[in-house]
Amino acid sequence: ISAFKSKYSNIDRSIDSLLKLMTLEEKIGQLNLLTSDLDVTGASLRPQYRQDIEAGRVGSIFNAYGTAYVRKLQELAVQKTRLHIPLIFGYDVIHGHKTIFPMPLAMASSWDLSRIEGAQRIAAIEASAMGLDWTFAPMVDIARDPRWGRVMESAGEDTYLGSLIAAAQVRGFQGTGLGSTSSVMACAKHFAAYGAAQAGRDYNTVDISERVLRDVYLPPFKAASDAGVATFMTAFNELDGVPATASKHLLDDILRKEWGFKGFVVTDYTAIMEMILHGASKDSAEAGMHAILASNDMDMQAGIYSKFLPKLVKEGKVPEAMIDESARRILRKKFELGLFDNPYRRLDPEREKTSLLTPAHRLAAREMAARSCVLLQNNNGVLPIKSTVKKIAVIGPLADAQKDMIGAWSAAGDDINSVTLLQGLKNSFKGVEINYLKGVDITKVDFEKDNIEENKAIKLAKEADLVILALGEGKDQSGEAASRSDISLPGAQLELLTFVKQAGKPIVVVLFNGRPLELGNVISQADAVLEAWYPGTEAGNAVADVLSGAYNPSGKLTITFPRSAGQIPLYYNQKNTGRPIDVNQKYTSKYLDIPNTPLFPFGYGLSYTTFSYGAPTISKPEMDMGDSLQLKVRITNTGKLAGEEIVQLYVQDQVGSVTRPVKELKGFKKIKLLAGQSEEISFIIKTDDLRFYTKEMKFAAEPGDFKAMVGPNSADLQSLSFKIR
Ligand code: NOJ
Repeated sequence: ISAFKSKYSNIDRSIDSLLKLMTLEEKIGQLNLLTSDLDVTGASLRPQYRQDIEAGRVGSIFNAYGTAYVRKLQELAVQKTRLHIPLIFGYDVIHGHKTIFPMPLAMASSWDLSRIEGAQRIAAIEASAMGLDWTFAPMVDIARDPRWGRVMESAGEDTYLGSLIAAAQVRGFQGTGLGSTSSVMACAKHFAAYGAAQAGRDYNTVDISERVLRDVYLPPFKAASDAGVATFMTAFNELDGVPATASKHLLDDILRKEWGFKGFVVTDYTAIMEMILHGASKDSAEAGMHAILASNDMDMQAGIYSKFLPKLVKEGKVPEAMIDESARRILRKKFELGLFDNPYRRLDPEREKTSLLTPAHRLAAREMAARSCVLLQNNNGVLPIKSTVKKIAVIGPLADAQKDMIGAWSAAGDDINSVTLLQGLKNSFKGVEINYLKGVDITKVDFEKDNIEENKAIKLAKEADLVILALGEGKDQSGEAASRSDISLPGAQLELLTFVKQAGKPIVVVLFNGRPLELGNVISQADAVLEAWYPGTEAGNAVADVLSGAYNPSGKLTITFPRSAGQIPLYYNQKNTGRPIDVNQKYTSKYLDIPNTPLFPFGYGLSYTTFSYGAPTISKPEMDMGDSLQLKVRITNTGKLAGEEIVQLYVQDQVGSVTRPVKELKGFKKIKLLAGQSEEISFIIKTDDLRFYTKEMKFAAEPGDFKAMVGPNSADLQSLSFKIR
């Protein structure tokens, strides 16, 4: 510890002496983050930016990777600038760098924290091997609205699980610490409440109560901060009338003062400039002033800090001490990254050659992708595919879609390396005849029956023992700026399914998509439905592992699948209302046309085996504040195959000083059981786990009556009562 302390006090001393040497313009330069360009000819840099780097007006660059190219840019900073301060290189490494893992919402469906951490570790190894110091991930926004395209980048709708996954990702990216050349700085984004955009429309207004902000949206950010995340990124949205980018409440009061965050904050892309269109700043100078006064350290791509801060300081509108503070936070990370020891330390071409897309990385991606699949339906045990199946018809626009498999935000991933479902099936089902037909185009939004190859599809299906239909969304139909008002299958895919159904053969639908879809008409026609999301580089092999039974699926949804987009927002931890649904009573909270329940609830997912839950027991019916109790339940594998089960614990605080959700996830265990095997699982419930923001906005648990609920998903639970005295 003392060595550690002296190292960091040395850093502080070094920064002090460096800051003394720096001009105001040079300090402001550290706050400036600019993009490199990638065009058809490869990586490039605008000539103006080159001059800016050489003049010390740029502190960091993003969208530049590859040791040779990064070295060129780093040399500009290190050799040409007056003080030789190195640049930081950042990039959106969201779910893998070259080896692409499943999209984050998919990885979350594994509920496997150590594998999620491991996936981001591999992403960091590959990204740093290509010269990167910083990833703009994890996105830890709570996502309760499937119309919002960025749900794919989230861990789903739950705060507790989202917090654990946020911390796991930070640990993965940052590894043993920033000093390691295989670590990259992580960035918790988008601070805050970006997922609460009204109507699920990207970048839209957010207006939620301080209580919902603190109870639901902030904890994953707090978890990232506690895990030592190096940086935060602000959100595009406004919150309670103030753009997050200029929110002193968020950045200073909560992040720095309440949570003690010591890293730096970067804006999202041109977000400072956008404060003018928000109607929160009258011009660029004022926008820059608002952002820096809120203690936003780094300007991504608006160029406003570098242009206006010198004048704002000279006019006395921004204290120079605030510039020093922001520069200090950024320089500190450059020291911790080891860039002052050796600015080229992540630029080893040998390492770059041997670290990317290795067999070990691909194997990890394949295993993660199989564990990310969620089996939604499996009538008559049609899956896993039996050895009696000798001829398979593989139909659908996503069956041989190499580009789509890696999904949106696939960083430097090359789709040329990804394995399609068709290829994966061929690799795995040797000796089985596999015939393929695209059947319909995916990108069409309007249904045009003429484009469906229905006769060919029906014929192919009739000749086969089993049909696998690969349906879903194109990779650009989710992700940033990809909100949808209609979340059913795009184009004429459903019609294709209906045609294929005429052949009378068992149908397995494999879904590749970035968000929950409206699946009522798919479920009613298909025998089995497997939600595969965007599985990444090893897509086809991983899905084939699941279809063949080489891997018994264990994933469970971390986001609710509504019956209809009209139910949105629909999430499991809702409030009760004063008139909970009663189908026999008109004046209760419900719809005339559909039930209130989702098609598939949070926590849902099937296995090829079955599990039974014994009656849960509790160690004591009452506990004191500060105390804990134990809940036990016996799980038995009642099927014929070994399998994994994700046992979930929920708690309801029945009466509070403010109303409380009907249930909240408070624990889970993923266990593996052989056929016939059983295991007793125990959960500890501490009163501290039951804290929330009370009527007085205190973070505290309250005495009273509680229900503890345990089961395989959020809708299928056995409950017990307990009290806090
Ligand atoms: C905009 C996105 O909102 C953000 O998540 C991303 O990191 C930046 N662009 C940089 O690419």
